[in-house]
Amino acid sequence: RSGWPGIIRAYQDRITLPDGAKVVTLQEGGTPLLEAPHLSELSGCQVYLKVEGANPTGSFKDRGMTVAISHALAAGATAVICASTGNTSASAAAYAARAGMTCAVLVPRGKIALGKLAQAVAYGARILQIDGNFDDCLELARKTAAEYPVELVNSVNPVRLIGQQTAAWEICDALGRAPDVHLLPVGNAGNITAYWQGYSAYANDGVVAAAPRLFGFQAEGAAPLVRGEPVRDPDTIATAIRVGNPASWAGAIAARDASGGLIDMLSDERLLEAYHLLAGREGVFVEPASAISVAGLLMTAGDGRLPAGSTVVCTVTGHGLKDPDTALANMVPVEPVPVSPGAVASALELG
Ligand code: F0G
Repeated sequence: RSGWPGIIRAYQDRITLPDGAKVVTLQEGGTPLLEAPHLSELSGCQVYLKVEGANPTGSFKDRGMTVAISHALAAGATAVICASTGNTSASAAAYAARAGMTCAVLVPRGKIALGKLAQAVAYGARILQIDGNFDDCLELARKTAAEYPVELVNSVNPVRLIGQQTAAWEICDALGRAPDVHLLPVGNAGNITAYWQGYSAYANDGVVAAAPRLFGFQAEGAAPLVRGEPVRDPDTIATAIRVGNPASWAGAIAARDASGGLIDMLSDERLLEAYHLLAGREGVFVEPASAISVAGLLMTAGDGRLPAGSTVVCTVTGHGLKDPDTALANMVPVEPVPVSPGAVASALELG
């Protein structure tokens, strides 16, 4: 990554800022596109992981946030606000700190993973918790930004999605083509919308021959796009995608239909199986929401919807350290041993 300038400068021919704008960057993007041999074997496809946990605040949100905060600064904003299940707030807080702005985050009560909360605290954000879910937070953030001098940096701010397209471009640039199928988690649906815009732009400009099919996955307890109507009390262990009424609903449906893709749902149980498989077999520790793309890979490879032999990319959207509680809840217990090589060897059954 040395020399990587962040996504705005890396894609300056495709991302424009207002004249004279200062680029607010933490050198986000340029994340690994990692081969996944075990998943390839299981699925009969050539599988790659786009490891977005490698971004500066540990999730893909940094791609959109560098653009949103650079725009906000250029417009003279001194304060930004967002609603979040945790990652958007961590990212907004970091880039606002870098830009010398105040950041306020609206979070749902008791539903924020510990690591994300720690980030917002460390970056000095004002953390406002409301007695409601993410959808309530977003509505409140929108109304506040409409009436008061504070910039909204949720993905309903269109410049966020411009930045998030860069993940699709990086994948094409690395493979020398687009994948056949791209799989990703869907919550508020900004990211699937952005990936489709990004792939479409490359296909329209002839950089790649064709855009991939997009397969999006929601958790069963928070699957409004699959059920065809908003979910009033969304629930899943994957707090990042606990969203009942996605802001980019239309964008997600358009991405699905225009790409010949699908949006389906999976149980928390299957999501956690994929979570353990990723860490235990591929060495890639992701947060629960991220694992749903891999759970979806295994499901669609198993039922034939994912054609064998396809070149496939799964975006794993956030780092495993974001949610230590889920990791520890499923951990093999720590084993006390006496301070002796023999005791260590016998615990490990080394003979
Ligand atoms: N994965 C992670 C780790 C996320 O944090 C999110 C969204 C998604 C997937 C889904 O992306 O919303 O664009 O469909 N997190 C938002 C937040 C809601 O507030 O951080 P999406």
